[in-house]
Amino acid sequence: MRLSRFELDRWLDAYKHSDRPIQFDLGSSTGVTWTLRELAALDPDRDLIGELETLPQTYVAVVGEPETRRAVAAFHEAAPEHVRITTGASEAIHALLCLLSEPGANVVLPSPCFSTFEGLASGWGFGIRTYVLSPSTGFAHAAESILAAVDGRTRLVVVNTPHNPTGAVAEPVAIQALAAALTSRGVPLLVDEVYHGLYHDAPVPSAARLDGDVIVVGSMSKSLSLSGLRTGWLIDRNRERLDALIDVRTYFSISNSAAGERLAAFALTHAESVIGRTRAAVGRNLALLDALFERHADLLSWVRPRGSTVAFPAFTDGRSARPFCLACAEAGVLVVPGDCFGCPPHFRLGYGGDPDAFVAGLARVDALLAMTRHSA
Ligand SMILES: Cc1ncc(COP(=O)(O)O)c(C=O)c1O
Repeated sequence: MRLSRFELDRWLDAYKHSDRPIQFDLGSSTGVTWTLRELAALDPDRDLIGELETLPQTYVAVVGEPETRRAVAAFHEAAPEHVRITTGASEAIHALLCLLSEPGANVVLPSPCFSTFEGLASGWGFGIRTYVLSPSTGFAHAAESILAAVDGRTRLVVVNTPHNPTGAVAEPVAIQALAAALTSRGVPLLVDEVYHGLYHDAPVPSAARLDGDVIVVGSMSKSLSLSGLRTGWLIDRNRERLDALIDVRTYFSISNSAAGERLAAFALTHAESVIGRTRAAVGRNLALLDALFERHADLLSWVRPRGSTVAFPAFTDGRSARPFCLACAEAGVLVVPGDCFGCPPHFRLGYGGDPDAFVAGLARVDALLAMTRHSA
């Protein structure tokens, strides 16, 4: 298996985990950070930290602990028996692609797309077919254009909503139509909902409720902003696939850590409070972005995101955003060049973090944009 360079995480890692970490992280895709103490404080009647002190540090169930699966099921309004816990959504995606891979098969992915899908699918030998999410249509997910990319060798269609890196949210009716059409063609639909619960307009129900051949992937990492727990999941009603996943996961990682699962289950039972903290930050930060993009409308265009913690603005003249991203990094601010997603004029801006740091970081971005204009 040959894997391509993971440009996105190489860029993020180089700045976030270097000897001199970047001052203002406006590039990452998570939200407000949590400490264990802050998490435990969500339930003063429970001694969460004490529980961890006496928790046996052993393997846990390959399919996930019953309490974790119940908490995930409640979050997606699914049945616990359809839930499998994984090491991040990353492992869920990897396991599924491993399971579905066969010579000559292809997968249908959005473009742009979170890098894992393309990298792992290519690594497992799938051909890649894409449907384009275009800023000209507000990055809309049109069921017809997704279906147009499907052929007789398609083994999986992927939708990611809310979408990384654009923040677009697929209309539930489009997902429903897609699921029905794909099921009748014998093709499973994978809906990546790592940002489920973080919608900026009306809440959107999980695709896990849909009939048909629908697989949902989720995670503690994004809307719940607890990426360090490394806990994700897959929800599927197909018994055969669920059974086969047991072996794949056992080969990959056997199980999660006991502490990760205990904390994930706890946080999910307080999902409203946990997501609420990032939602409050997103509300304040998005208002600042509205003003910034208005001030620089001649230089940048953006589609206001409808979910997630990321936006994907672009330079209106089509220039590559990389030099600007490098200048931001030199000024202590992390944003991500769009070429990491195959879209050079764009950059990814994360707005889920602490509002005070966001204000300070954005002021530097603002000043750099003004300088860019004057030097043009
Ligand atoms: C759309 C999407 N799916 C899956 C993942 C993987 O998340 P994790 O493995 O941290 O759960 C990410 C991480 O950035 C993502 O953005």
